[in-house]
Amino acid sequence: MEKRALQGKLGRRQFAGTAAAAAGVSLIATPVLALEPSKGQGSCESIGPLSLPEGAAFTPGVFVDQRARKPIYLPGMNAGLAGYAVSEVLFWTDIMMEHAMFMSLLMPGDHLRGPRSEARQFQIVFARHFLSARDGGYRDDGLSWLLSSTRASVLPFIEYKRRMQRAQEAGTLRSLVWPLFFDHIAREAERFAARLELLANGSAALQRDEVSAFWTTIMADHLEFVAHLLDPQERALVADANARAEQLYQAHTQRVGSGQLASMADEVIDFKTAAEQGIETGQIKSIIDPSLADHILREAVRFSDEIQRAQ
Ligand SMILES: [Fe+2]
Repeated sequence: MEKRALQGKLGRRQFAGTAAAAAGVSLIATPVLALEPSKGQGSCESIGPLSLPEGAAFTPGVFVDQRARKPIYLPGMNAGLAGYAVSEVLFWTDIMMEHAMFMSLLMPGDHLRGPRSEARQFQIVFARHFLSARDGGYRDDGLSWLLSSTRASVLPFIEYKRRMQRAQEAGTLRSLVWPLFFDHIAREAERFAARLELLANGSAALQRDEVSAFWTTIMADHLEFVAHLLDPQERALVADANARAEQLYQAHTQRVGSGQLASMADEVIDFKTAAEQGIETGQIKSIIDPSLADHILREAVRFSDEIQRAQ
């Protein structure tokens, strides 16, 4: 508990420090959302909440895994449909909020003000969805508003991500976001939208082939992102990350068994945990923001959880 509180404190401070340095903006890391950009000469742009407040959900059946800096919301042992749905909405709305944050941080300068402003609006939208999901008490027969309103925000976010991807690929957008990163976060949003539809139809089931196909590529992409954000002199780690990515891409095409997938998920979690600690303590040289390291660690834990539940 003490460790978690310490991590929370450090997290807030580090989010503010690193992000402000990267983007030259003032940051608001409080539960109160920044709804209006600050105005006037000399004032800084606000970027909205960078770290949502921690805490348990009111809906029964939502388990909080504490392996990462931020809580990882997963369905508990005795979750009903509401527990499955709310944990999934909590997990992914936090991820979507962070996607918007990463994009706004990677779109610096006056010439990117328009797309950066769009990203900031999405950040606020998904922070609100997260808070509604966490603080509402949902029942199995009272999920339709939560699921439909969240999906109604995910769809334009997919359109935005794909539009930015096309512009970056065409050379008309000169952001610091790789085309693969746009594609990766669009795939995650597309999958979230599909899951919301399934949940709205009363099913929380996970198909093993779908889980495997989706997450092996996502995990492989993460390892390639890590490889490309490490200091070029971290040659052994760069090679290690690329080799692990290759294994996961192979697992994607070969459709390996559940047991092997579960151990691959555990290995990815161990690698990302060690990387996050090395980055935080300065033992690993990189330009990886700790909030990005934590983001991909949480996704690896979700991968591990889904593999265990998939049929
Ligand atoms: Fe991801």
